[in-house]
Amino acid sequence: MTRQRWTSRAVFILAALGSAVGLGNLWRFPYLAGKYGGGAFLIPYLIALVLVGVPMLILELAVGQKMQQGAVGSYTKLHPRFVGLGILALISSFIIVSYYAVVMAWSLVYLLASLKMNWSGDAEGYFYQKVLQTSNGIEQLGGINLSIFLSLLFVWFSVYFCVWQGTKSVGKVVKYSVPLPVILMSLLLIRAVTLPGFLQGWEMYLQPNWIALLNPEVWTAACSQIFYSLSLAFGIMVAYGSYKDRDDDITQDAWITALLDSGTSIFAGFVVFGVLGYMAWKIGTPLKDLAASGPGLAFVVFPEAISLMPLSKIFSILFFLMLFLLGIDSAFSMVAALNAAVADKYKHISLAQISLVFCLLLLIAGAIYTTRAGLYFLDLVDHFVTSYNLLSIGICQSILVGWVYGAEKMRRYINQVSHWQIGKWWNIAIKYIIPLALVTLLVTQFIQDIKTPYEGYPTWALGIGWTIALLPLLIFLWLLLKDKNKIISIEER
Ligand code: TRP
Repeated sequence: MTRQRWTSRAVFILAALGSAVGLGNLWRFPYLAGKYGGGAFLIPYLIALVLVGVPMLILELAVGQKMQQGAVGSYTKLHPRFVGLGILALISSFIIVSYYAVVMAWSLVYLLASLKMNWSGDAEGYFYQKVLQTSNGIEQLGGINLSIFLSLLFVWFSVYFCVWQGTKSVGKVVKYSVPLPVILMSLLLIRAVTLPGFLQGWEMYLQPNWIALLNPEVWTAACSQIFYSLSLAFGIMVAYGSYKDRDDDITQDAWITALLDSGTSIFAGFVVFGVLGYMAWKIGTPLKDLAASGPGLAFVVFPEAISLMPLSKIFSILFFLMLFLLGIDSAFSMVAALNAAVADKYKHISLAQISLVFCLLLLIAGAIYTTRAGLYFLDLVDHFVTSYNLLSIGICQSILVGWVYGAEKMRRYINQVSHWQIGKWWNIAIKYIIPLALVTLLVTQFIQDIKTPYEGYPTWALGIGWTIALLPLLIFLWLLLKDKNKIISIEER
């Protein structure tokens, strides 16, 4: 059987872009920019894009395309001892997408609630008490919240029908689901600039504070944002790359994807700060107090701001539809990555069956986030996966390709098939810059987490966090160092 293929190059780029462009572009980037130096933040951000993001994206696409396998198969082909790296990436993906889908489920709940919009005046109480019914602490599980769980069921139902035929169904979906949220974002932007106050919002977003660049935290934030936003280190781009022909272009596709992703982030910043500017003007609160990230931005501040606008219901519907659409391509890209790994190994099982099993497992895994303590679990797990798993996988990937397989060898392959030739700088980025940057990030994060336990969660909860961060890594290391004879026999096969 021949491997599945993307129906066209444009479809591949849309799919990769869809994975990259997600909630992170809307609720993470603008906040970081506002917090870390405004317009000046673009400097570390763009430097991280060129030195870390693009080289790593090229690497992942190249590995998948050259080896023609998902993450587990591809990394094993690069070196049999690294069989655990793909597994580590996929476990982390599994964990991330299990809660990412829950955020999409909240968006759906709000999409329906937009018809009534009875959060005006108390958006905060509405989100935490009415919608999530959040308990007083992580130890009070309080049972599953049915409306969120049903909504989550619908999310997994939708994801299933996006991936069940692999590139064929994904190809059909991304033609709509990737451009549409950007169009919706543009409508929100038009709304914002036709209201007073937006310019003050933009001023806060863009006014450069050059001094901020002296703070190392700004650089680490830029670096991790790039990594997270491009969906790197989860085996996604490897899997997507593996559905391209061996002699397809790599470098151009990577640049196009990366630049459009960052462009969307910058664009989203205008929308977010434009709307916040209007809200600050309308209720007379200082802008600084409104700037928020994560769920607080999307489900408290934004709904409140929208409720103050003329034609609020329409814009509320557009906004939550946009959130859902932003999320879905990222969510199904994970499932596609999981599918690829299993389908490589078990050729007799159909993609439809594999997808069904994963969607069900992910629904079950996500149930914990639909409890009354769901928000706490989501926050905790997100913190540990995105700070540790993401970085450790990134480091291992650059060591594997840069040092074990050989950066130069990979670069020659990339240049053979690509229009744009990459210079020796790529080897330096893969072998030195990326591992050094990521190790620095990892160590800084570790010291911080040891000094002040994250958000003051109880020890058992932090234990879960550390287990998520360390257990997959230990499995990887164990496989790396395991009995050599066995490995040689794999190699001979
Ligand atoms: N790129 C996504 C965003 O910006 C975040 C992300 C990274 C993600 N890896 C993921 C989302 C895996 C879902 C699954 O929002």
